[in-house]
Amino acid sequence: MSLLKVSELDKRFGKNYILSGVSLSIESGEIHALVGENGAGKSTFIKIMTGVYQPEGGEIFWQGEKVVLKSPRDARDLGISVIHQDRHLVPYFTGLENLYLGANYPKRKFWPGIRWGIMREEAERLKAQLGIEVPLEKQAQDMSPTERTLLEILRAVRVGSKLLFLDEPTASLTDQETETLFRLLLHLKSQGTAIIYVTHRLDEIFRLAERITVLRNGQRVGTMFKDEVNKDTLIQLMAGRELVASGPPKAQKVNDQPLVLEVKGLQTVDKRVKHADISVRKGEILGVYGLAGAGRTELLEAIYGIRPKCAGEIKLNGKALSRPSPVSSLREGVVLVPEDRRGQALIMDMSIRENITLPVLRHYTVGGVIAHSQERREAKDFISKLKIKTESQEQSVQVLSGGNQQKVVFAKALISRPGLFLCDEPTQGVDVMTRSEIHRLLRDQAEQGRSVVYVSSDLEEVLEVAHRLVIMQDGETIAELSAEGLTQEAVLQHCYHRRKESESLIGGER
Ligand SMILES: Nc1ncnc2c1ncn2[C@@H]1O[C@H](COP(=O)(O)OP(=O)(O)OP(=O)(O)O)[C@@H](O)[C@H]1O
Ligand SMILES: [Mg+2]
Repeated sequence: MSLLKVSELDKRFGKNYILSGVSLSIESGEIHALVGENGAGKSTFIKIMTGVYQPEGGEIFWQGEKVVLKSPRDARDLGISVIHQDRHLVPYFTGLENLYLGANYPKRKFWPGIRWGIMREEAERLKAQLGIEVPLEKQAQDMSPTERTLLEILRAVRVGSKLLFLDEPTASLTDQETETLFRLLLHLKSQGTAIIYVTHRLDEIFRLAERITVLRNGQRVGTMFKDEVNKDTLIQLMAGRELVASGPPKAQKVNDQPLVLEVKGLQTVDKRVKHADISVRKGEILGVYGLAGAGRTELLEAIYGIRPKCAGEIKLNGKALSRPSPVSSLREGVVLVPEDRRGQALIMDMSIRENITLPVLRHYTVGGVIAHSQERREAKDFISKLKIKTESQEQSVQVLSGGNQQKVVFAKALISRPGLFLCDEPTQGVDVMTRSEIHRLLRDQAEQGRSVVYVSSDLEEVLEVAHRLVIMQDGETIAELSAEGLTQEAVLQHCYHRRKESESLIGGER
């Protein structure tokens, strides 16, 4: 008997079917991958299974018995937990407080108040049992993405979950952190926990899962054992067509081009960046790679002017900026594609069109009146270029799938036609198909003489898109390498064994 069996599930919003006739089963101790293009319905499926959305049709059986999940509580009571795509922790609560959130706190019989000691002991025991390190005293907002993910898993294990949904858990994790997570998942599996795993990183599937279910446009196109398929066939099943590889970047001759950005000895007030040296020429894509906490995001933020610096120099187009700010960045044609799309990049209750055209609204303004037809035309253009899955450009970005929101963020950056893109994990949560599209668009931009700083924790991706690569560690740039012929092993060597002489490589090309 399957742990969970779903048959003929239908879900619609308004008159649009988001899921139709989806059937699926999962066994105890199985890791089952769920894949599909952005907007295919993966998160919606999870929301139904966790009682957030009610389906319009279909049946759900839990250990052979028909159940109706009217609320998240119902799902939790059965033993179904979810680790969210957009993490659901209270930012200013500590690890321990989040761990017991919404649960029955251990209380004293005759004395009100929470028994922190007991909670802490129980939490420590669980951590030891699972072999993971989660800081219980830290506030969730100060934790790294891995710590937050592990905390959520800890919470799920604590309440005795038998089925765990993970929605793109590794989207912002580095390779090492991913290993930690995988070890934990395999451990849980060996204990009989069933796991449904959603990801756009296909190689993860082949390492972790036994079976793979592919969704396309809200329909299940197949469930296979992993040795029945390979990456290419999976992509074909997801997209319903073949993917044209974008190929390695053209060995662009940029060495004689002027420097667009020069950063020397940069240090931020909070010391997240301690000493950074980078330079980018016109038409160049510079990759920035490093382990978690290396200071990559902070470096971009300092250049963009939202994280104060206390030492070092930032030169844009040959001009030193004493104190960069978003205003000076706008003036100099610098745009930041931030990592945290919900917090920084999108206005959730505005439409897709409004979000995309916001930075350039004045371009459509004639005598104080917005020329909507032109604005709509441009927005439409980007929606089709980036394959943003939506009914209309007037839909609010709130209801878009995670990956499609990321595409809107990217469109918004493209439309302002900057000279310098600062991209922080721009393909986070974006499906494989669109990922190559984003790479292609950035290369087009470079060929047109624009420059890009490209931060990613996916090494393969950085090597695919960048001309040159800078490695960061502990807030410092430790090496600078030409991407031509560069292998992943060579880069990892630099990361793990920080060599003294690597210092002399910095700025070697200058
Ligand atoms: N509340 C809602 N109202 C209307 N449409 C919605 C709502 N929630 C989701 N949708 C639509 O349902 C479709 C499926 O979304 P879902 O989030 O399930 O996709 P996904 O497979 O998780 O994609 P991604 O890989 O980008 O996360 C999308 O086209 C989305 O716009
Ligand atoms: Mg999703």
